[in-house]
Amino acid sequence: MTPPDKTPALEIRGLEKTYQNGFQALKTVDLTIQTGEIFALLGPNGAGKTTLINAVCGIVRPSAGQIQVCGFDHVTHYRNTRDLIGLVPQEITTDAFETVWNTVRFSRGLFGKPRNDAYIETLLKRLSLWDKKDNQLRMLSGGMKRRVMIAKALSHEPQVLFLDEPTAGVDVTLRSSMWDQVRELRETGVTIILTTHYIEEAEEMADRIGVINHGELILTENKKSLMKKLGKKELVIDLAQPLTELPASLAGKPIQLLQDGQQLVYTYDTLQENNGVAELMDELKTQHIRFKDISTQQSSLEEIFVQLVGQA
Ligand SMILES: Nc1ncnc2c1ncn2[C@@H]1O[C@H](COP(=O)(O)OP(=O)(O)OP(=O)(O)O)[C@@H](O)[C@H]1O
Ligand SMILES: [Mg+2]
Repeated sequence: MTPPDKTPALEIRGLEKTYQNGFQALKTVDLTIQTGEIFALLGPNGAGKTTLINAVCGIVRPSAGQIQVCGFDHVTHYRNTRDLIGLVPQEITTDAFETVWNTVRFSRGLFGKPRNDAYIETLLKRLSLWDKKDNQLRMLSGGMKRRVMIAKALSHEPQVLFLDEPTAGVDVTLRSSMWDQVRELRETGVTIILTTHYIEEAEEMADRIGVINHGELILTENKKSLMKKLGKKELVIDLAQPLTELPASLAGKPIQLLQDGQQLVYTYDTLQENNGVAELMDELKTQHIRFKDISTQQSSLEEIFVQLVGQA
């Protein structure tokens, strides 16, 4: 249990952003993130994810609203909030002629932290960049550059880490090792806010999910309860004998005959009081339809997401 007096890692109230050309990218966003959470912000291209992150990181100036990082106001205590934050930006910006080692070490220096080569070494090793430490950034691949951005963001030991599409262009193996590192970071008390277009990553990683669409945070929810609330379940019945068509008594129900008549798939709402499974079983028995196997599967976060954003 978290003590009730714990200051949230991030507290956003009434955040709005209208860009100079008059485009409203954020419409009154309220969001609280507790210390130690992994929060995934999901939304289609142009939804406002980067705008939101950049507003918190002091890169985009909000048009209205308040932001507090670990209890510090991001205007009156700009320096404190900036020191507490690490950002892996969506756009990779690096000095092509600088070495990996210097890039990360200088970044720590910029935050006024005392030199700590042992820490930088551990960081580079954990991100599989140690053997590249003396390479200039222009010599690295895209995925390696992204990992350098992560090392940079962690160089000053931030408490709140923003990862804006950190795994774009990173291969599958490295992606999974990156996420392992993110989990390790969380173990050390770091709060993590990430965006990703790989929804299965959010599903695997996040404790809580926020969905943003057209500049509005349309939902924030604990991942497990979100999956439960919005997820549909499928009951898959492998038949002992194939059917040529659905029996008339089953027509009109959310049931499909698939796999050349060898499988019945019944879709139901997990929240529905009577999900109809018992009646379906009775009906199969009445119809003398026998089955070999039966299984259920829950819709993925990706399906839920498409449903939500499609509706909005
Ligand atoms: N400097 C700017 N001036 C005007 N409009 C902008 C500016 N920056 C972003 N926008 C607009 O604000 C909206 C939100 O952009 P943002 O980059 O926050 O989206 P995003 O959710 O991060 O998208 P993606 O998934 O593509 O990264 C978009 O419509 C974008 O065109
Ligand atoms: Mg973005």
